Amino acid sequence: MARKKADDDSTPNGDSSGSETLRVLVIHGPNLNLLGEREPEIYGRTRLADIDRELTQLGAELGIKITTFQSNSEGDIITRIQQARGKVDALLINPAGYTHTSVAIRDAVLALEAPTVEVHLSNVYRREPMRHHSTIADVAVARIMGFGAPGYALALRAVRGLVETARHQRA
Ligand code: DQA
Repeated sequence: MARKKADDDSTPNGDSSGSETLRVLVIHGPNLNLLGEREPEIYGRTRLADIDRELTQLGAELGIKITTFQSNSEGDIITRIQQARGKVDALLINPAGYTHTSVAIRDAVLALEAPTVEVHLSNVYRREPMRHHSTIADVAVARIMGFGAPGYALALRAVRGLVETARHQRA
């Protein structure tokens, strides 16, 4: 079942003062709704709601409008990425277990045509070999892993630069 969105990403972009408000979609994949309870020795004690709240607050400081979404369903994640086409400036995604298997999420990320950052709480290279492969690693502009929950904020702080670089490359 999809988690309630923290906000709506459909608001048209633009502002009247200084730097543009960016729109960033944050997607959390399967089992991340259990953060804080699930294997805390690997994923830490921070709950997903706390990560989302901190990202939304940090986004407000950075001039970034955050929309968050969690689902345990591959199809729902794909549908949410499709809905964001043309409506977001960047995507932060932790596809969780689908990282290692989902060609369909990779295809949705490609169709989004927005800079995408792959986020993982754990350093997957210190774990089982099956976690070393990612279907989206080469279509993401950047990857961040091993920092636990603070990795999301690190990724968000870098987003404006990644969006500007992507725009320059397209121009
Ligand atoms: C994860 C790593 C994945 O291998 C795992 O299936 C997850 C979480 C991480 O954030 O470290 O569910 O994406």
